[in-house]
Amino acid sequence: MRYAQVLGSAAAIAGYAFAQEGEVQSTVVYDAETKISYSSYTDSKTGMTFGVALPKNVTDPYDAIIRITAPVANQWVGFAWGGTMVWNPLSVAWPNGQSGTTSARFAFGIGLPQGYDQAEHTYLKGTKTNSTHWTVNALCKGCTGWRNNEDTRYALNGTGTTQFAWAYGLSAVEDPARNDSAFNVHEAYGKWIHSMEAARIDNFDSLVKINLLTAPVATPSTAPTTIVTSVAPSATAKPAAPDAIPASCSGAGSPVFPGNLAAGWKATKIAGGLTSPRSIQFDSAGNMLVVQSGKGISYHKIGMDGCVTSTKMLLSQNNLNHGLAMSPDGKTLYASSMTQVYSWLYDAAAATLGTRTVIVTGMVNGGSHLTRTLALAPQNANLLVVSHGSNANIDTDASDPKTGRAIIKVFDLTKVPSGGYTYASSGYNAGYGQRNEVGICFDKNNMLWGVENSGDDFKRNGKDIHQNNPGEKINYLGDVTKPNDQWYGYPTCFTVWQPSDFTDKTFKVGDWFVQTPTTSMNDDTCTQKATAPKLTLFPHSAPIDCKFDVDSTTMYITYHGSWNRAPVTGFKLVAIQFKLGADGNYTPVEPLTSTSAAKDIFYNPAVEKCAGNGPSFSSGCFRPAGLAWDSQGRLFMTSDTSSNGEVWILGFDSLTIFATRLPRAVLFQPLRDLQAINLTSIFLLLVLIIICCALKIDRAQHLSLNHVSARLGYSANEGRHLMTSVFRGIERPLHFARVAYKNGGPAIIDTIEEATKVRWVSKQR
Ligand code: HEM
Repeated sequence: MRYAQVLGSAAAIAGYAFAQEGEVQSTVVYDAETKISYSSYTDSKTGMTFGVALPKNVTDPYDAIIRITAPVANQWVGFAWGGTMVWNPLSVAWPNGQSGTTSARFAFGIGLPQGYDQAEHTYLKGTKTNSTHWTVNALCKGCTGWRNNEDTRYALNGTGTTQFAWAYGLSAVEDPARNDSAFNVHEAYGKWIHSMEAARIDNFDSLVKINLLTAPVATPSTAPTTIVTSVAPSATAKPAAPDAIPASCSGAGSPVFPGNLAAGWKATKIAGGLTSPRSIQFDSAGNMLVVQSGKGISYHKIGMDGCVTSTKMLLSQNNLNHGLAMSPDGKTLYASSMTQVYSWLYDAAAATLGTRTVIVTGMVNGGSHLTRTLALAPQNANLLVVSHGSNANIDTDASDPKTGRAIIKVFDLTKVPSGGYTYASSGYNAGYGQRNEVGICFDKNNMLWGVENSGDDFKRNGKDIHQNNPGEKINYLGDVTKPNDQWYGYPTCFTVWQPSDFTDKTFKVGDWFVQTPTTSMNDDTCTQKATAPKLTLFPHSAPIDCKFDVDSTTMYITYHGSWNRAPVTGFKLVAIQFKLGADGNYTPVEPLTSTSAAKDIFYNPAVEKCAGNGPSFSSGCFRPAGLAWDSQGRLFMTSDTSSNGEVWILGFDSLTIFATRLPRAVLFQPLRDLQAINLTSIFLLLVLIIICCALKIDRAQHLSLNHVSARLGYSANEGRHLMTSVFRGIERPLHFARVAYKNGGPAIIDTIEEATKVRWVSKQR
């Protein structure tokens, strides 16, 4: 699912008052208090006024004064400098006590606009709130020109007319004193044509100077906001901390939201205050690169302990929004915007990039799905894989792969044409008909897998089934060195998650279905024509990244969470167990009919309180996004909660590692089923280990208890007592059990003997 971002009721996104092109609706209004003449527009229905004043010289870049006045009922008001919600600077303002607050924002998709550091507001006189209205008056540097989504500069014509847009909300912002506060979706928005020429005034600079407020009305804050600090469940026993994961990282700040961890896992926040951090990539020197959507790529030096020791921006380029990949030699970096893929020569030690090259261009500019995930084929680093989602929830035309939507394509980096490949007409397919395969990852055989965000608002023959259908999917895409022209079902065929929602037919989990069956296109047609997923996942989980572990026995997936379900779901890191099949291919352990394959690893304690997107202050929860392993096998994860993005380091302790190395049929599955560590589960696990070892010992030739006892100089009874002791309380039981189990043969004697040397055993001799 993951439908661009957000929602809202019809009322919340109502738009009206669209101006006819060229019909100037602003007039000049003189303000006696500041002595500034504004080119001013008043919206008669809402009672809001927007005044703009410019210097005479309007050569790009030039400053502007923006004055917003609104009734006190309007708890926030936005002014869009390019006349749209997305891809232009927004001056958002709200009342704050007897004063006001303004904030520079930029929206890259339909959702809470994030802070925009390319524009800066300075408060001017007139900023105040009374019993009926509030006004924010500010100088803005950086509002009249910006980089558009093709990363080229766009500047307002200061001598002509332009379309601006307003929006306002009726619910209070999260914290009126903070200009990085989150706020809810608007009640309404509108647009008008404004004269820029009439906004040009004499003495702009001196009028700014005499109107500067001596003290800021509200303190802008860049520091992380700590909302809640607890991370691990407190009611249960904690696993021992693995050495590889730091207990804490100074300077990272406290976790913004609480989180729970599965048994044996440890998670520590290593960075905070990032802007929508998405994909992560480690370079050849172990530095961590993070794409911050709407900002660029940051470079983080990582200490031995896993904490960040220093951070800098490697690249400021605000159209980058998700994709990031590195050549295996570590010398070329790839990143994507909604419309293009770029590459740069990269120097890991110097933390510098060379000149930018456009590799792919012409990807859809807009629509519902804005990310273009990148990966390089491990078996041929000249092959770049680029995933491109559909253009809408149901993008009918995307059934044709030639549209270049709902598809994954592969491009040969040795033959990039000047100006780059055109996405839709170039490259070859790694499957098509995937609605939005945001996460793609390679297994140990170098075969590509993808996690697909499936549809929203689903019906079957008119009956609403959206709450628990369709399932998200794990698709096997295979060998990307060869074209894969298989169809994966979208925009017609979807998979069942909750069969009981279907009243016209009996389904199993994972069966294909269509929303409205016809004689020519029905569930059976899907079975015949579409490539089935390997597993279905909980609907509306919004999986957006996947990574296999080193032996491809586990796939980790970030569930970003979404809005199209009540209560919401997702907002967690999960793990899915894989196995190597007899045919030499990896496959999920659980069958397509399973609804329990995904095990929670790091999750929000009350997911029903998380908000799927924008209309609330923020998600209210951490939102897992990108994943990456470092060279030490530590797992890094971003959380892109827009007001304060974080990076986490995760690892599991020896208990879990140990369990994964024992025969899976015996120990692994029961352990995985434990959702939280507690004393009972530890006890049961130890009993299981003892039984395992005892069985193994019994089976081994000449290794009966009597024999062991004899070798150790005990009677059979003494030996039995000793064995029980050795494997009960114990300083190193897991180690002994593991070695004993692994070695099996006569070496177990030595192991037992070694056990007898420990102090507390010796006491019993
Ligand atoms: C929490 C923050 C916000 C949310 C969740 C949000 C959400 C939305 C949604 C869902 C739409 C409808 C899109 C469609 O029908 O295609 C929309 C449209 C729009 N929004 Fe927002 N919005 C937010 C903040 C803002 C702000 C601060 C502005 C500032 C002016 C703004 C201006 C607009 C405009 C002008 C449109 C019309 C579409 C366009 O021309 O871009 N929005 N918004």
